[in-house]
Amino acid sequence: MIDLAVVDAVLPDGRDRVTIACDGERIASIARDARPDARRTIDARGQLVSPPFVDAHFHMDSALTYGMPRVNRSGTLLEGIQLWRELKPSLAHAAIRERALELCRWSVARGTLFVRSHVDVCDPELRAVKALLEVRELVRNEIDLQLVAFPQDGYLRWPEAERTLATALDMGVDVVGGIPHFERTMADGAASIERLCAIAVERRLLVDMHCDESDDPLSRHIEVLARETVRRGLHGRVTASHLTAMHSMDNYYVSKLIPLMHEAGITAVANPLINITLQGRHDAYPKRRGMTRVKELLEAGVNVACGHDCVMDPWYPLGSHDMLDVAHMGLHVGHMTGDAEMRAMFDCVTVNGARALHREAYGLDAGRPADMVVLQARNAIEAIRLRPARLAVIRRGRVIAETPDVRPVVTLAGATQEVTFRPSP
Ligand code: FE2
Repeated sequence: MIDLAVVDAVLPDGRDRVTIACDGERIASIARDARPDARRTIDARGQLVSPPFVDAHFHMDSALTYGMPRVNRSGTLLEGIQLWRELKPSLAHAAIRERALELCRWSVARGTLFVRSHVDVCDPELRAVKALLEVRELVRNEIDLQLVAFPQDGYLRWPEAERTLATALDMGVDVVGGIPHFERTMADGAASIERLCAIAVERRLLVDMHCDESDDPLSRHIEVLARETVRRGLHGRVTASHLTAMHSMDNYYVSKLIPLMHEAGITAVANPLINITLQGRHDAYPKRRGMTRVKELLEAGVNVACGHDCVMDPWYPLGSHDMLDVAHMGLHVGHMTGDAEMRAMFDCVTVNGARALHREAYGLDAGRPADMVVLQARNAIEAIRLRPARLAVIRRGRVIAETPDVRPVVTLAGATQEVTFRPSP
């Protein structure tokens, strides 16, 4: 007898009437119409079973601080940075940990079980680093949390960043971060990329930099990052986050840049919820959208993943850590309503993110960890359209979250009936 069977499932790739048999922490088999003896059976009733959602770019240290010490009245990036500066000195270990744990509960409820979180290292005492390292351990049975050493105030610009970033990595932070567009000059930005990539080579770590997060069409840090990736043999190990300047760049220049990113095996991470609200703020009408060129990058074969970036923090007052919200926004902003494009957007919040995080065992296949989400939707497109209940969230063969299958009951034109939203084809 096996431990758990998920029967009558549809998988994101279209396989249907599938039974996923889980033995212990692993998937034992995936077969059509099988009815194995199992201690527990979950009937997906022809609905979607997906590998967990992956948030490839998040800030867990600032999450759920919205309103502390006051709300962001203008809603702008600059007021957000100012608020974070005001807030940072008062951050305490226990409070960061408790907020992060609350956020992790939301993540599990939404089926987001892989999270790459940046953690601000521009603090002489590294309080957020210490708190999130503790959280990484506390949640390890439920969430795969990968941490990035992020010099929020600039690696070269903030005087102690060299020391604190190295200390954070010594303490066990997983990935080397950066923010070249926030250094004092374009040249300093390039120098920071070179130094941070050298650290990654020396320590054999992955790289994930905030890169060109501006509306400046002449911002060129992604080009330098791609060159350093090739030069230092970091192929496939580097992620460039945000890349919003690409939205505003000259098209001829981008026609050279995207193949360079492909050559370097760089992952591009778009954060549509945040960048649609923060970018274009200096524009009169028409206002630029400020999301990187997701469609064109995907067409060129670049790995594109998505991040939630923020949930209720100085930069973004909304969110519940639902990667289907992210996919929904990204699809709209990127003009990606073609059938294959909508499916590609689902990949951006699942498998492409796992690739960025180097989680090779991710996915629904025999022998892999039994991690999955049962959704109240019939396919990936419908999941993005309805952002429905996560009926069951399973990690290493254990059900760690359940939401009842709820349907509204509507009275209309003299008749009362249960409503089922028309399925997406
Ligand atoms: Fe970010």
